[in-house]
Amino acid sequence: PKFGPKFGPSPIYSQIRGGSSPVSPTSEPPTPSPTPSRTVSLTNHINYDEVPDLPLVSTTPEWKALEEHAKEIEETHLRDYIMDDERCDAMHVLEDGIMLDYSRQRVTEKTLDLLSDLAEAQLLRSKMTSMYRGAPINFTEKRAVLHTALRSRKDSPLRPVVDGLDVVDEVHSVLEQIKKFTDMVREGEVTGYTGKQLRNIVSVGIGGSYLGPEFLHECLKTEPEGVNAALGYTLRFLSNVDPVDVERTCSELDPEETLIIIVSKTFTTAETMLNARTMRQWLWDFMGNDPEVVSKHVVACASTSATDKVRSFGISDDYFFRFWDWVGGRYSVCSAAGAVPISLVYGFDLFSKVLDGARSMDEHFIQKPLRRNIPMLMGLIGVWNMSFLKYNMRTTLPYAEALLKLPAHIQQLDMESNGKHVTRSGKEVDYLVGEVDFGEPGTNGQHSFFQLLHMGQAVPCDFIGFVKSQNDLVVDGETLSSHDELMTNFFAQPDALANGKTADELRAEGVPEWQIPHRTFHGNRPSMSLLLPKLTAFHVGQLLALYEHRTAVQGFVWDLNSFDQWGVELGKKLALGIKDKLVEGRAGRKIKADNPSTKRLLDYYVNSVNE
Ligand code: F6P
Repeated sequence: PKFGPKFGPSPIYSQIRGGSSPVSPTSEPPTPSPTPSRTVSLTNHINYDEVPDLPLVSTTPEWKALEEHAKEIEETHLRDYIMDDERCDAMHVLEDGIMLDYSRQRVTEKTLDLLSDLAEAQLLRSKMTSMYRGAPINFTEKRAVLHTALRSRKDSPLRPVVDGLDVVDEVHSVLEQIKKFTDMVREGEVTGYTGKQLRNIVSVGIGGSYLGPEFLHECLKTEPEGVNAALGYTLRFLSNVDPVDVERTCSELDPEETLIIIVSKTFTTAETMLNARTMRQWLWDFMGNDPEVVSKHVVACASTSATDKVRSFGISDDYFFRFWDWVGGRYSVCSAAGAVPISLVYGFDLFSKVLDGARSMDEHFIQKPLRRNIPMLMGLIGVWNMSFLKYNMRTTLPYAEALLKLPAHIQQLDMESNGKHVTRSGKEVDYLVGEVDFGEPGTNGQHSFFQLLHMGQAVPCDFIGFVKSQNDLVVDGETLSSHDELMTNFFAQPDALANGKTADELRAEGVPEWQIPHRTFHGNRPSMSLLLPKLTAFHVGQLLALYEHRTAVQGFVWDLNSFDQWGVELGKKLALGIKDKLVEGRAGRKIKADNPSTKRLLDYYVNSVNE
C-alpha cells in the first residue's frame, strides 16, 4: 500500500526506551536533545492549555478532496468491488491474532490515501501520542485521558505524571490492593458481619460504571476458565433507579453472604447513590445497623476526589478502591470499576488477562502503520461513512452470545464520546459527527431488525465472529458444529448486504413479476468483518481497547472533545427541579412548572397517584 511509510508508526515507545524523562500533562514541549535516540519529541506538539482558533476541518483541502471523491464512489456498486481479487487482498489486515476484512466497505485505495491525508492534517498521531503521555486532551475539564495507563506494565517505560503522581505506580498500587482483597474474599479470609463467606456480589453503578463491567461479566460467564473460577459465586448489577431493579437484584440473595460494590467515579450520581442507600438499608434490615455491617459488606470504587464521601457512607479505607479523574466513566472498565467485581467472581488472574489483551491493542494502536492498524482503519472508515457517505447510523453485530452486552457498551462509549456539536475551537460543526450505534448478537438480530438493514435504510455493519466457540456442540453426528452453523450466517450476511438481489436474478428464479419490486434488494450496503480466534479474557481485552481507540480516532479527526459529557448535565439538573415540584404536589400544593406541557403531565401524575 502506497501510504504505509508516509503515515508510519509513532516512535513513542522506542523514544522512551531511549531513556527520556516522563512528561507531565502540563509540561512544555521538551527541547530536542542533541542525541536523537534520547529525545522525547512530540511532532506537532499540541498545546491543550490554549483554545486555538482553528478552521473547521471541513474547510481543509483534505476534506474537500474526500467530498469530491465521494461522488466517484457512487459510480461503483459493492458487488463489483468485491469481485476484484487484488482489491480484496489489500483490504484485509491480520495483526495480533485479529483479522479485519474491510473489502465490503465502499472504499478504494484512493479513499484510503485521502483518509490518510486527512488524518495527517488533523494531527491524528500527535493527538494519540498526547493521549498516551497524559496531556490534558479532555480540554473542557482540563483532564488527562489515561485509560491506556490502566493496563500498563509495572515497568512500562512510558510514565505519565498527573498531579505530581506517577500514574503507572498509582495503577499498580491499586491493582495490588484489589488482588489482595479479592483473593482474601475468595479464600474466606475476609467474611461478612456474621462470619459467612461473601459469595453474592452486587455491583451498584450506572453508565460507564456499569455497562463495561457487565459486558466483561457476560463474556467471562461462559469462558471455560471463567466458569470454573466463578463456581459458587453470583454477580448482579444494580443500575436503574427503578425500584423494580432493586427487587430483581436482591431476589433470593442472602444479605449475610452479599458484598455490595458501589461503583461511582463521582460518588454523587443520583441513581447510584439512591440505590446505594437502598442496599445499605437492605443490609441493616437483616443484620441491624451496627457500623460494621456497612464496613464489612460495602466496598467503593470511586475517584480519589470522592474520598470524603466514601468515608461518610461508612465504608472503611481498606474497602475503598480508588481510580482517578483521568479515567473517563465510559473508559473505566480496566480500572477498579471493572477489576473489583470481575476479580471477586472470576479471580484476579483472569482479570489480568483482560488487561494483557487491552495492552496488546494499546501497543498495536500506537505502533502499527495505518494499513496494519485495526482501530485506526476502523475509525477512519467510520469518519468516511458518516461524514462523506452520510450514513448516520452504525450497528455492532457480534456472532457470539457472550458478547450480548457489547452493543450497549459501544452505545455509551461512542455516543457519549462523539455525540458533540462543536470543535476544540468552540465552532459549530457543519459536517456529520457521532453515529447512532445499536446492535444485537447474530443470529438473533437477523430475526428482528435485519429486514431494515437489507431493504430499508442502509446502515454500516460491524460483524464480529470467532474461529472457535467458547463451548461448541455437535448435534446428532452432523458434519458441521453449532458454531459452524452460527458462522455460516456471519459469512453470508455481509454478502447479502453488499450484493443484494437484482430483478433479473429474481426473474431467473421464476419469481412472479408483481412480486419483483418487493423482493429486490439494492445491495451496496457496507460492512466490515472482524474475526478473532476465541472469546477468551485476552481477546475480550483486545476488543474493548479496539473500540475505545476507534472512538478516539473519529473524535480526533472530527476535532471534538470525545472525553467530556456535558450533554447529560441539563437533564440531571432539571430532574432535581422536578423533584421539588413533586414534593409540592404530594403535599397537596399547586405545582408550578416551567411550562404548561410539563405542568399537565405532573398534575396528571400527582393526581392519579393520589387517587
Ligand atoms: O451521566 C453520565 C455519566 O456521567 C457517565 O459518563 C458516567 O459513566 C455515569 O454518569 C456514572 O457516573 P459515576 O461513575 O460518577 O456515578
